Amino acid sequence: MANAPKSADTIIDCTGKMILPSWCDSHTHIVYAGNREQEFVDRINGLTYEEIAKKGGGILNSAKKLQETSEAALYLQSAKRLEEVIQMGTGAVEIKSGYGLTVAAELKMLRVIKKLKENYNLPIKTTFLGAHAFPEEFKSNKEGYITLIIKEMLPKLNTENLADFVDAFCETGYFSVEDTETILTAAKSYGLVPKIHVNQFTAIGGVALGVKHKALSVDHLEVVNDTDIAALQGSDTMPVALPSCSYFLSIPYTPARKIIDAGLPLALATDYNPGSTPSGNMNFVVATACVKMKMTPEEAINAATINGAYAMNLAQEVGSITVGKKANLILTKEIPSYGFIPYSFGSNLIDTVFINGKKVAN
Ligand code: NIG
Ligand code: FE
Repeated sequence: MANAPKSADTIIDCTGKMILPSWCDSHTHIVYAGNREQEFVDRINGLTYEEIAKKGGGILNSAKKLQETSEAALYLQSAKRLEEVIQMGTGAVEIKSGYGLTVAAELKMLRVIKKLKENYNLPIKTTFLGAHAFPEEFKSNKEGYITLIIKEMLPKLNTENLADFVDAFCETGYFSVEDTETILTAAKSYGLVPKIHVNQFTAIGGVALGVKHKALSVDHLEVVNDTDIAALQGSDTMPVALPSCSYFLSIPYTPARKIIDAGLPLALATDYNPGSTPSGNMNFVVATACVKMKMTPEEAINAATINGAYAMNLAQEVGSITVGKKANLILTKEIPSYGFIPYSFGSNLIDTVFINGKKVAN
């Protein structure tokens, strides 16, 4: 401490420890009601994620729970999850709607996110995901639900200025490439930038669609073909991998090496949600990306910080330790190298979390 600067409010002895930019989690669904641990057991007993969804479980199960939950109760459940992820080193986060699926319930979710933004001092970005699943009553009238999104949800959320981005689950059995394009086009007229779920189970052209509409990111990418890689080349769209989802559902991991070795960037996020990823732990995401996706610790840490910040349009504010950015930081416990962080995958190596330069109480 002999060379400590003379003008500092606080001096922290970091000997043997490391300082990292806090994690930038660019893909979450942390506003949800209740949980789905019964579906977890059903999957252990042999049902697939798709089979559970077809039986009315999955997203529709969460939508039913959310519609029956008051805004105040939903806020309390969600705030608890946000506090949990901040403790685990997340210093900027994106949160999606998409478990409402009615005008009232989607607005309820978006208002909860707005309240989280008001009450917590980390950057939070909001994504409107009305196109997450078709509600039961629109099963044989898909156009009717898309019209509801375009004619009722979008104008209302625009009036209250409730969203930054628009998303759709572009997937076989959910929203087709054509459905997704219709929704993105309408949302763009309200200034919402696309950030879409693509290629989780099948590659149907969602990546090229995202690039065509200048999506900020295309997320999931468990299935990636050469056409998808070619579409991303030369674009400003960030591919985002969600390895905790692959882990939890036992589905393939995003082929990170194929993406990175093609000269593309890659971001990592949690996908924290009650169905496919009931975990918001970015430390686990970074470790799993190294272990299962063969990313180096350097690649994984960059993907979970500066690339995640880009995927939320926050690269000017967070994601690296730079003059002019927020002091949202992780101070580790004593560690021999930063490779030790993913290597020690089950340990909590975080000593202190800082948001705007202030220590977060734990
Ligand atoms: O990103 N794939 C679509 N949506 C979520 C999971 C939704 C759910 O099962 O509740 C995801 O994995
Ligand atoms: Fe998701």
